[in-house]
Amino acid sequence: MGDSRETFGPNAFVTGFPVKHSRSPLIHGHWLRALDLAGSYRAHEVSPDDFPAFIASLKDGSSGFVGGNVTIPHKETAFKLADRPDELSEELGASNTLWLQDGLLHATNTDGRGFTANLDERHPGWDRTDRVVIMGAGGASRAIIQAVRNRGIGEIHVVNRTVERARELAGRFGERVHAHPMAALNEVMRGAGLLVNTTSLGMDGEAAPQIDFSPLAENAVVTDIVYVPLKTPLLTQAEEQGFAIVDGLGMLLHQAVPGFEKWFGKRPVVDEALRALIIADM
Ligand code: ATR
Repeated sequence: MGDSRETFGPNAFVTGFPVKHSRSPLIHGHWLRALDLAGSYRAHEVSPDDFPAFIASLKDGSSGFVGGNVTIPHKETAFKLADRPDELSEELGASNTLWLQDGLLHATNTDGRGFTANLDERHPGWDRTDRVVIMGAGGASRAIIQAVRNRGIGEIHVVNRTVERARELAGRFGERVHAHPMAALNEVMRGAGLLVNTTSLGMDGEAAPQIDFSPLAENAVVTDIVYVPLKTPLLTQAEEQGFAIVDGLGMLLHQAVPGFEKWFGKRPVVDEALRALIIADM
């Protein structure tokens, strides 16, 4: 804020309700400075009641924004109200990135690409497996299932406390995605090359459950989408048991790349300086 370059160039937003905890302004602000680009990116809180009017103001140009990010609870409504949601959004029923192009509001969902780009960067070769296990069956899990399936992984197993939710989710993705209750975790892990946690297991003040990761393939990777703390209780256990781990911060950083490129015209890089900036803010 108060930076003179904000008065020139494209303006982009992140909207949610609430939105003040979003780290997206830090990420995009860093890239605008690093690339010496004119433009701004700022948090813009909009309530669910006001969201349709906000989208209308985006479409008619009166908002002054060229696009932006959408977070909880607006992702589903953003998808529904966009003129041109892409195939990824269509399958997920949710969009997190919007941009105006030729007078139409386009939408995509970058969460899944953020997930795979983080693994590609931190552990290249992670996708040389035919079995992936995902814990959790919420919105984040859905985007990750899509991204992992799109990489051509043979079998994806979703394990969830509420097994009905996992079944409903798996059913959307066809025969390569299977649902299981949490109690089946140990059995389902056998031979898997990647284990992903999308739940808040062990993060809500309760003691983290002890997990025996030994059924995983010897060279398996364990990753968590929670990034505060960077090394979650689950990652700590996995590392102690000799497995490679990848923290979730990179997913947040990489999911921001496609939007920045759409709004400001240059592809930014996820570098150590950016990681350090976000870690310093935790
Ligand atoms: P998100 O959009 O971030 O994925 P969500 O839709 O609220 O969030 O989903 C949270 C996931 O964490 C769910 O899979 C939830 O399990 P249920 O479907 O059974 O509710 C899981 N989860 C949250 N707290 C949990 C806990 N203490 N133990 C096990 N699973 C938990």
